[in-house]
Parts: sequence; structure tokens; C-alpha cells
Amino acid sequence: MGEVIAPAPPPALDVTDLQVAYGSRTVVDGVSLTISRGEIFGLLGPNGAGKTTTLSAIEGLVKAKSGTLLVDGVHVQQQPLEAKARLGVQLQSSSFQAELPIEQIAKLYGGLYGMKLSNEQIQEGMRDIGLEQERGKRFKQLSGGQQQRLALFVATIHDPLLLLLDEPTAGLDPQSRRGLWRRIERLRGDNRSILLTTHSMEEAQAVCDRVAIIDHGTLLTTGTPAELIDKHEHDPRVVAEAHGAVTLEDVFIGLTGSEIRD
Ligand SMILES: Nc1ncnc2c1ncn2[C@@H]1O[C@H](COP(=O)(O)OP(=O)(O)O)[C@@H](O)[C@H]1O
Ligand SMILES: [Mg+2]
Repeated sequence: MGEVIAPAPPPALDVTDLQVAYGSRTVVDGVSLTISRGEIFGLLGPNGAGKTTTLSAIEGLVKAKSGTLLVDGVHVQQQPLEAKARLGVQLQSSSFQAELPIEQIAKLYGGLYGMKLSNEQIQEGMRDIGLEQERGKRFKQLSGGQQQRLALFVATIHDPLLLLLDEPTAGLDPQSRRGLWRRIERLRGDNRSILLTTHSMEEAQAVCDRVAIIDHGTLLTTGTPAELIDKHEHDPRVVAEAHGAVTLEDVFIGLTGSEIRD
């Protein structure tokens, strides 16, 4: 008698040969990447590399010129609503209505996702993100770290399979950053997947299972942080950057160059 084996679920994200152009300028040029369930994937790249645009294409906010985008096996371009229902999104600069009390913001966004949150659920959620005391405050009265926590809460209100976080810890103090990492790791523990962008090599090494380095719209390399060091530590461009043992940052600068981008 044959054993019944449940088919493996599709990857949380499968991007094949993505191209995105603004006008005649192609800024994402052949990006392919796959993110498994329960995986945290980091996209590293200098300013203007195409990180936000890649995320925007997955979110359906910009149109792909070519390529295939599948979220949990659902085609983003052909079934945008079904795909979006599986996504949680925190934009690069999360800003909510400055004057609204944060409880109302949580309710409002819950409503947008079709979740009717009771007062008890909101209260529980606020407690969970350490904003219980701030419940009645307006968004603009929160500190940067508190705003970021609220943004992550709102992005995960509908328990999405894949969370897209664009520079989630930019501008946070070390305590808030660690707090956010813990939240992200807890989501991974719940078998959720995360695609985040960051400029912090420390962050990439601390929380990402795998990372890719992107520049000029093209992925230069993909792997675990340790694999990237192994793979590139003898590259003369990387060796030239190293002060002692090769670090992920040496690999990053070696592959993307030391010229400053704005
Ligand atoms: N809405 C837009 N219209 C035209 N060009 C854009 C737009 N958004 C971004 N770009 C350009 O596309 C490139 C990639 O930008 P972006 O994806 O924001 O990079 P990153 O997030 O890696 O800093 C940059 O050269 C940027 O100037
Ligand atoms: Mg960006």
C-alpha cells in the first residue's frame, strides 16, 4: 500500500527573471529569487540598486515589464487580489495619519484587510507590541521605535504568509532594533516568511537565513551570509577591502564598489 504524501506547499515567494522599468530606464534587470516558508531573506544593495522597486513589483505597486512573480504559488499579475491577501507590507517610510490615535489606526487597517477587530483584540495587540500605555496617543506622538512597532503590527494584522519589510530598522536605536529582530524571528517561528531590505550587515548576519546582494538592478550573489564569505573571500576586489578576516561587508563593498551613491 502506497504511503500518502502531502504535496509540498509552494514557496512563499518565487520571482523569475523580473524586469521593471521607469519609462525607458530598466532599474530591475533579471532578478530571480525564491523564499521558502519560514525563511528570512535579506536584500542588500547600495542606494538606487533596485531594492524598493523589486518589493514594489511583488506588492503589485509597479508593473513588471517581464518576468513571473508567484506568492504562495499565486500569480501576482494575474490574480493580484489573491496574491495581496497573502502579503504583509511595511513600506520604506511608514507613515500613518499623524493625528489619529493609534488604536484607531489599528482598527482602520484591520478593516481594510477585512478583519473586524474587537476592542479586546486591539488591546491585546497593543499589549503584544508594548504600546498598551500609548493606546490613546496620536501616531505623531510616538517615538521612532514605537511607530515602527505599530507599522509591523499593522502589516501582520491579517497573518500574512509573506512579509515585505523595506529598511525596517533604519533610524532605530539598538534596543528597538533588537526588539524588532525578536518580532521578526517570532514570525519565522510561526512559519511565516520575510523579505527585508537593509543596509546593516550586522542585521543581515543576525536575522537573515539567506541574503542576496543587488546592484544596478541585478543580483550579484545569493546565499547564506557564511556562504557569501566563502564564495568571495579570494576575489581580489574583496581582499582589497578586508582588514584581517573577510567580513560580509568586505564582500558587499568588493562586489558593489566603494563609490558613494545617493
Ligand atoms: N518612481 C520612480 N520613477 C523613476 N525612477 C525611479 C522611481 N523610483 C525609483 N526610481 C529609480 O530607480 C532606481 C532604483 O530605485 P530603488 O528601487 O528605490 O532603489 P533602492 O531601494 O535600492 O535604493 C534608482 O535609480 C531610482 O532613482
Ligand atoms: Mg529603497
